[in-house]
Amino acid sequence: MSFIEVKEASKTFLQKDKLFTAFEDITLNIEKGEFICLLGPSGCGKSTLLNAMAGFDLVTKGSIAIDGQEVKAPSTKYVTIFQNYGLLPWRSVQKNVELGLEQKKIPKEKRAEIAEKYIDLVGLSNFKKVHPRQLFGGMQQRVSIARALAVDPEIVFMDEPFGALDAITRMKLQDDILKISREEKKTIIFVTHDIEEAVYLADRIVILTPNPGKLKCVYEVPLGQHRDRTSGDFLQVRDKIFQLFNMKPDNKIEYII
Ligand SMILES: Nc1ncnc2c1ncn2[C@@H]1O[C@H](COP(=O)(O)OP(=O)(O)OP(=O)(O)O)[C@@H](O)[C@H]1O
Ligand SMILES: [Mg+2]
Repeated sequence: MSFIEVKEASKTFLQKDKLFTAFEDITLNIEKGEFICLLGPSGCGKSTLLNAMAGFDLVTKGSIAIDGQEVKAPSTKYVTIFQNYGLLPWRSVQKNVELGLEQKKIPKEKRAEIAEKYIDLVGLSNFKKVHPRQLFGGMQQRVSIARALAVDPEIVFMDEPFGALDAITRMKLQDDILKISREEKKTIIFVTHDIEEAVYLADRIVILTPNPGKLKCVYEVPLGQHRDRTSGDFLQVRDKIFQLFNMKPDNKIEYII
């Protein structure tokens, strides 16, 4: 049995009296501790699949199970990080990170201790008392990463978490999340439409194609833990993924599938 098992799963929506299939017949097994990227162009059903895995939505065919239990609703064992950070503007960084701990009824002092540990881990020790609006986007996303990790989840679902950030900040956060995923030994399911990001982060890349969203292949990234975006090996893997999408790296057209 795998940790996460997606079996012949499909999701169909009713859109203006017509049935619309967001993803179809997806079978996928994920092991504990893996860093998985779901990669594909806009509209191929990445978020819908992620939401179904996280229990925010149900599949209409097939099944999704985590740890042998069919996913029917969100669980406190898993957290989701979105692109727009989802921070509460009226709460300080510290209080935002404590949010999930309050829901878990952790006593006040313990809460503060855990929150501080994770705020330190994401490099925001000097910003505990400030409010989210006083922080740059990358720092806000760090707060939401700290908040997610503070509840010690078994799985972290991330939906294009760095999509709104500039390239440099994005690279820094990619390094942070890699380091954290190794230190904290989390299973991470990370949605992106950025091929380089997937090659930099993932143990395995789940490649999805649109209309309807289908699994094209699962690609095991043949690179070690410390990846260099400029190395020949890295570029070779990146080009291979571009080819799987039938496009060249210098192609300006989004995706031709
Ligand atoms: N609640 C819903 N009701 C109807 N249709 C939906 C719903 N949610 C998603 N869809 C449709 O399903 C398709 C897949 O959407 P989804 O958001 O999963 O794609 P995505 O791969 O995450 O795209 P993006 O990269 O733009 O975020 C889209 O065509 C979308 O319009
Ligand atoms: Mg999406």
